[in-house]
Amino acid sequence: MTVTWRTLLAETQRAVGGQQVGRWIVEAASGCPSDELTTLLDVEVGERASARLDAMMERLAAGEPLQYVLGSWGFRHLDLAVDPRVLIPRPETELVVDAALDVLARRPARRAERRDGEHLMIADLGTGSGAIGLALASELPLDGVTVWITDVSADALDVAGANLAGIGRRARNVRVGLGSWYDALEPDLRFDVIVSNPPYVADGDPDVEAVVRDHEPEEALFGGPDGLEHIRTIVSGAAEHLRCGGSLVMEIGATHGRAVAGLLDRAGLVDIDIRPDLSGHDRIAIARSFAGG
Ligand SMILES: C[S@@+](CC[C@H](N)C(=O)[O-])C[C@H]1O[C@@H](n2cnc3c(N)ncnc32)[C@H](O)[C@@H]1O
Repeated sequence: MTVTWRTLLAETQRAVGGQQVGRWIVEAASGCPSDELTTLLDVEVGERASARLDAMMERLAAGEPLQYVLGSWGFRHLDLAVDPRVLIPRPETELVVDAALDVLARRPARRAERRDGEHLMIADLGTGSGAIGLALASELPLDGVTVWITDVSADALDVAGANLAGIGRRARNVRVGLGSWYDALEPDLRFDVIVSNPPYVADGDPDVEAVVRDHEPEEALFGGPDGLEHIRTIVSGAAEHLRCGGSLVMEIGATHGRAVAGLLDRAGLVDIDIRPDLSGHDRIAIARSFAGG
């Protein structure tokens, strides 16, 4: 019996209980760009596409996150490849990009920059899929910007490297570094903004959803007994790696605001700002290196 894409779409939407999710799955199985499915609706589904769809539905039924099954997910205006080697980029992390853009826009130009033209230096530590760093590289001007994206996981950097191609000409502004936090950077580099969404879930946190714990990379999630292990390392090295007046922008856990503010203060950073996410939970910590201007 022949089956058209129209029939398959309707069946899939029924099976997953959602119009949009069903459409995403069928679009991914078709292998066509999303706006082309409409032109296929009365075409017969081929065997390979049908097998692809069956495999995707099996993975979903086994509890795998939709984003990994689709193989890509939206982050700001980017469509990022994602698979189980990287954390699925979250909507609250889009606010971290806004915060980084905001501090860059408000930062006073340094004397050397006024003379020579500005060259912004940005580092995204623990880049995973590349979400934060590639969004920044693609939203900042083409000229005068360098964005380092780093990770301790070579697997994650493979995914970020694949996503790098998706930002077009601005890819030339991006450098990739493998290693633990600041060790991944070339020595003596100083940054206007260091941004990071480090692993900050406390080991053994009972509130972590099973789908997250069972499918997303452990090293992307957990930050020691209190969740602050990696944040401590990033904060303690920030002053040494920031330019004068440069800022550290970090995503933090909902219960970490006060503790992180204390760490930033003890590290000698100033203008400490703990911002909430859309649900009103502490989510972003921002602080500046002392010697501004
Ligand atoms: C919470 S995920 C964030 C990924 C991505 N930046 C995002 O926001 O979607 C944390 C990332 O930090 C990386 N990571 C863990 N330990 C690290 C370390 N010691 N040095 C550098 N990166 C590390 C993980 O591999 C993971 O990609």
